[in-house]
Amino acid sequence: MKKGLTEIKQPVEAELRRFEVRFKEDMRSQVPLLDKITYYIVQRKGKQVRPILVFLSAKISGTINDSTYRAASFVELLHTATLVHDDVVDDADERRGYFSVNAIWKNKIAVLVGDYFLSKGLLLALDNREHELLQIISRAVRDMSEGELLQIEKARKLDIDESVYYEIIRMKTASLIAAACAAGAASTAETKETTEKMRSFGEKIGLAFQIKDDLFDYGDADVGKPRGIDIKEKKMTLPLIFALNQSTRKEKRHIINLIKNHSENKAKVQEVIRFVKEKGGLEYARDKMNEFKSEALGILRSFPLSDARDALEKLVFYITERAK
Ligand code: IPE
Ligand code: IPE
Ligand code: MG
Ligand code: MG
Repeated sequence: MKKGLTEIKQPVEAELRRFEVRFKEDMRSQVPLLDKITYYIVQRKGKQVRPILVFLSAKISGTINDSTYRAASFVELLHTATLVHDDVVDDADERRGYFSVNAIWKNKIAVLVGDYFLSKGLLLALDNREHELLQIISRAVRDMSEGELLQIEKARKLDIDESVYYEIIRMKTASLIAAACAAGAASTAETKETTEKMRSFGEKIGLAFQIKDDLFDYGDADVGKPRGIDIKEKKMTLPLIFALNQSTRKEKRHIINLIKNHSENKAKVQEVIRFVKEKGGLEYARDKMNEFKSEALGILRSFPLSDARDALEKLVFYITERAK
């Protein structure tokens, strides 16, 4: 099965094209500096997985309408805001293959730009009395902040276990992907059950999405953002958590010491990466990712066959097989 994004987008291609025009308008500002940064960001657009999810979730549940477009814009505005902030938090200088906003304009500006996008999204919903949309997205914003903070807390203590890892990625990543699916469905669905089913689908693929992202950090391929930075930032992700669980106390003490006291040393970070690979951490994480993928596919199969269902199915495969 071919799983390129072009094919996946096909059932909502016209909608996505209209969305892009609107999205640019929704980001615009009269302040020259802001407009310049906004232009820089839209020139380097991402994969747009979340807007695609909004439209396909809307289509699988009913007929796409104006509310669906607002949901797509709001979700992508928020996603953009969180990426700009995340690169400050992670001290990352690369995003989408180019310099991050903080790398060019510094942290102060990146923080304010992120807030600006958030406010634009909030107003887009409020000005159109989209109460349900506002609730769906605001919950995700809360969860993302909590997830990022829990991650920082755990990075300081280095005491994270597998269940806390899932809790972190559910909050920091799956929440917005779940919100994208729920918001899309809510814009067209007849019943709350459909919206909730799509939210649950989104959460599963969101978990798989972040596990895949965490695997990139251990890879050699160029993914348009820094690699090897999780260990540098003392972020313990699933491959490492599993590897540590497979180790003797002595090995564990050694690796934890490397992360705690030598995370700025490239050779020591390489040693940790080698350790994770030898212990089978990558395979384990891949297995877990595929479990979430299967659960997501199970939910989709409760919908009648359609173009949108077919595309969503392909998108699930895309998420776990993508190259960036
Ligand atoms: C990156 O999301 C942030 C994570 C949740 C891992 P995407 O990989 O969807 O980012 P873009 O929008 O395509 O750059
Ligand atoms: C992803 O965080 C979730 C967000 C809140 C953006 P990461 O720090 O793991 O994502 P990348 O790898 O920088 O995109
Ligand atoms: Mg981060
Ligand atoms: Mg990051």
